[in-house]
Amino acid sequence: MILVEDLAFAYSPKEPMILNGINFHIGKGEMVALIGQNGAGKSTLLRQLNGLSKPTKGKVTVAGLDTGAALVSEMAMHIGYLFQNPDHQIFCQTVKDEIEFGMKNIGLSAGEMTRRTEKTAALLGLDGKMEVHPFNLSRGERQRVALAGVLAVEPEVLVLDEPTTGQDYVECVEIMNIVRDANKSGTTVLMVSHDMEVVLDYADRTLLMLDGRIIDDGRTRNVLRRKAALERTGLKPPQIIELALTLGGCGGAAEDAADGGRSAGAYGGVDSNAAGNVYDDVYDVETMVCAIKTRLEEVAGRDRQ
Ligand SMILES: Nc1ncnc2c1ncn2[C@@H]1O[C@H](COP(=O)(O)OP(=O)(O)O)[C@@H](O)[C@H]1O
Ligand SMILES: [Mg+2]
Repeated sequence: MILVEDLAFAYSPKEPMILNGINFHIGKGEMVALIGQNGAGKSTLLRQLNGLSKPTKGKVTVAGLDTGAALVSEMAMHIGYLFQNPDHQIFCQTVKDEIEFGMKNIGLSAGEMTRRTEKTAALLGLDGKMEVHPFNLSRGERQRVALAGVLAVEPEVLVLDEPTTGQDYVECVEIMNIVRDANKSGTTVLMVSHDMEVVLDYADRTLLMLDGRIIDDGRTRNVLRRKAALERTGLKPPQIIELALTLGGCGGAAEDAADGGRSAGAYGGVDSNAAGNVYDDVYDVETMVCAIKTRLEEVAGRDRQ
């Protein structure tokens, strides 16, 4: 669904490449996170996917369209794109007009448009604000207006640049559940997030970016365990993984399973974990408690022998 081949990109011929040697493929129905420190090039890479910005070298194909050749309007029918800053996206006078804008471009009937507008507005808690001017809303609300407009089109591919910025915890969970529902119905999702807990909870696969290159690519739980690569990018694993790694490292017999896939993960999307320990498959608090109990029982059993 998204194919990036030997992509390099510079903002102008005199400037250095911001993106370099980028290769990855995202299949239909995948839910993938793109992470990396500020300035790594995440937004620059996402802008390549809707044709707003064209490759300096290499090729980008999304939903079967070569972004170097396709019209932006054609791409917009297949790819829903959420800007990092909602103020770069919103330009209508009311929330309702803003939500309807994308749908008007794909020629939906008035009835279908009303149905989808009401549905997405309700999902995103905007139903009481349809006649409000977007600039009288908070930044978090404007982000949800922009997202509503993108979701209402029901595109095949969703490209989301920090969709939960400006949201409180409950709003963040609500937004991510909506994105997950879209994914469960078959929409391919690529999203940038700086929230490693969100990445772990929602993305099956993660691409890790450093200085305009993808330096790791694999199952999210494995990418987030490969601490050395993460730390190069200034990111920290989610707390539950930190805890699993610390407990695993205290076990004596436990290997650092996470290192097994460091190179295998890059580009191939294949991870192999070395022989592990009871904490290897722990990604939530409930499983963690079970794993600790199991480990304590093992230790107690060994001591009795
Ligand atoms: N419009 C632009 N013109 C020139 N350089 C830019 C532009 N936008 C971003 N950059 C530069 O590209 C690099 C990557 O930025 P960006 O893609 O926004 O990173 P991220 O989203 O990972 O924080 C940064 O060094 C940034 O200064
Ligand atoms: Mg960015």
